[in-house]
Amino acid sequence: MTEDRGLNVGSRSSDRDPRIAVIRHPPSLLYSSPVPVHVVDHPLVHDALVTLRDAATAPELFRRMAVRISLLLAAEATRDLPVSPVTVRTPLGPAEGRRISADVVVAPVLRAGLGMLDAVLELIPTARVGHIGLQRDEITAIASQYYAKLPRDLDRSVVLMIDPMLATGGSAVAALDLLKQAGARDVRMICIVAAPEGVALVQRQHPSVRIYTPVIDRELNTHKFIVPGLGDFGDRLYGTVDADVPATGR
Ligand code: PRP
Ligand code: URA
Repeated sequence: MTEDRGLNVGSRSSDRDPRIAVIRHPPSLLYSSPVPVHVVDHPLVHDALVTLRDAATAPELFRRMAVRISLLLAAEATRDLPVSPVTVRTPLGPAEGRRISADVVVAPVLRAGLGMLDAVLELIPTARVGHIGLQRDEITAIASQYYAKLPRDLDRSVVLMIDPMLATGGSAVAALDLLKQAGARDVRMICIVAAPEGVALVQRQHPSVRIYTPVIDRELNTHKFIVPGLGDFGDRLYGTVDADVPATGR
């Protein structure tokens, strides 16, 4: 991952959108301070994203690409995790290294966020997991909570909230409210496609939360689906989409 691409803050649509606070850093100031939106502009991320967007991608490949892109995004979102020095013995002698010293909690927003969980656990197997169940109403697009089970002591953890779609931002804000009420302080949100409306809402309600996304798409349609987006992530991940009714919110 080239560093100057890793923190390419803003995108074409967010540049135009007055609702999104775009902060620009010269490439030399990489990760020197938290910024609200990290647009992860890596070629492998975009390669996986375009497969996820393709309506012809079947659930099996969709799941694999969800894991691949999540690995890359999670690597970017954890770039500044604290580490402790360690010494191990290679077959040739001692070698100094670093191990992650942070307590990490991953919080998938059900159900679509589960498609990103294995990737984060592959990178950080010791992470604790908190599940947040939210469902958007199909007509109003308002999210309601049906489940929550969070680990204790979130105040000392780096929390990675994972939800692939940031559309109106209603689900993200509800999940972030829950995490903050449970004591979380350092929360980073990883998503796969964001809309300007969702980014703006999260920035307004939870300005300290860093958002990691490959892209901020153009807009929401009248059904509050992201355009061009990729359709209904959960339905495409789990194959619950009806063949006659594509996962587009129509
Ligand atoms: C999707 C997605 C987000 C939410 C985004 O979940 O995974 O959680 O919609 O939309 P918003 O920003 O407008 O709130 P959905 O409620 O469809 O549930 P699912 O994951 O079970 O499919
Ligand atoms: N949820 C999805 O899965 N897709 C969208 O475009 C919006 C919300």
